[in-house]
Amino acid sequence: MSTAEQAAVRGRRVLVTGGSGFIGRHVVSELSAAGARVRVVDLKPHPDPAVELIQGDLGDPSVLEQCFAQGCDWIVHLAAVTSVLRSLEHPDLTYRTNVAATHALLEAARSAGATALVFASTNAVTGPMEAPAISEAATLRPLTPYGATKAAAEMLMSAYTASYGVRCTALRLTNVYGGGMQAKDSIVARLMRAIRLGGTFEVYGDGQQVRDYVHAADVVQAVRLALASENWRGPVVIGTGKSLSVLEVLDAVRRVTGAELPVRHGAARPGEMPAVIVDPSRARAAGWSPRYNFEEGLAGVWQEWSTLDREAVAAGTGAVGLPAVAGRTS
Ligand SMILES: NC(=O)c1ccc[n+]([C@@H]2O[C@H](COP(=O)([O-])OP(=O)(O)OC[C@H]3O[C@@H](n4cnc5c(N)ncnc54)[C@H](O)[C@@H]3O)[C@@H](O)[C@H]2O)c1
Repeated sequence: MSTAEQAAVRGRRVLVTGGSGFIGRHVVSELSAAGARVRVVDLKPHPDPAVELIQGDLGDPSVLEQCFAQGCDWIVHLAAVTSVLRSLEHPDLTYRTNVAATHALLEAARSAGATALVFASTNAVTGPMEAPAISEAATLRPLTPYGATKAAAEMLMSAYTASYGVRCTALRLTNVYGGGMQAKDSIVARLMRAIRLGGTFEVYGDGQQVRDYVHAADVVQAVRLALASENWRGPVVIGTGKSLSVLEVLDAVRRVTGAELPVRHGAARPGEMPAVIVDPSRARAAGWSPRYNFEEGLAGVWQEWSTLDREAVAAGTGAVGLPAVAGRTS
């Protein structure tokens, strides 16, 4: 973080919703280290007891009231139903969490005079690709309750930016990976788990589907810029711009870990986008540039997983520290 960026962050009261989750722990550690006064609201405890935590449901008005009790300058909004499959199974909960609770948060933010909000959105707001790469100009055509509710939240934020001056930036994240993802069910975590626990890895469909993998430390960099810089508002695509097929990911994992990694092919998952190739030009023009290539990032992830107890891996717990971030600062 540059000295100017650090000065912009120091002393700010920042509410991080979902701050106990995978991306949230990276955000909290970075903002706290830069001198922000961070407060987390999450259903789950935060592994660092020094972090100020309001444990509860963001959709509960009394919890929301506590979040804003001592004022708030900036918000990083990460709390959500985050899984596409879970959203298909629980569309009502997904709506209440991702839309209704987001609206309540925006209302509280404007009453408190918060000036900036950064939201973790997704390229799943766009649906099937209709151009060689997904940019912010892509039509919103979500395929799942997850994508639809994230799109609805983006629309609310557009209105709160224009009508009430709460500058909102929706970071449309691709597949995020990095340290501390033991509880996740995304492909990198599933691969690490398969290698540590043994057994066969299930590839959904033919494995030709392509995705863009962005490191959590690079996402944190985007969050920082979007909080502090007036140039950031509206949707911004955050991804490396280089997509890999699932089969290419498997090869990279084999190279990095030395594991044989036997696979079998299962059914394709409903609602999966066949391809995600993104164009991050807008983010780059606004000063963001990803520092990790996939194999480099993967090496850090494997270093962490390879040292965990097998029982912890099986339980989805283990590394609560964030070595990949701590080992690599700007
Ligand atoms: N991880 C990715 O690849 C990815 C990609 C695109 C977008 N995103 C978005 O980024 C955000 C963070 O994702 P993550 O991977 O860290 O997920 P995560 O599941 O690890 O973290 C989400 C956190 O939000 C909390 N939460 C959920 N509902 C809540 C509620 N009602 N009240 C309070 N807390 C609640 C959970 O307890 C959890 O700690 C999410 O909004 C997700 O949709 C993630």
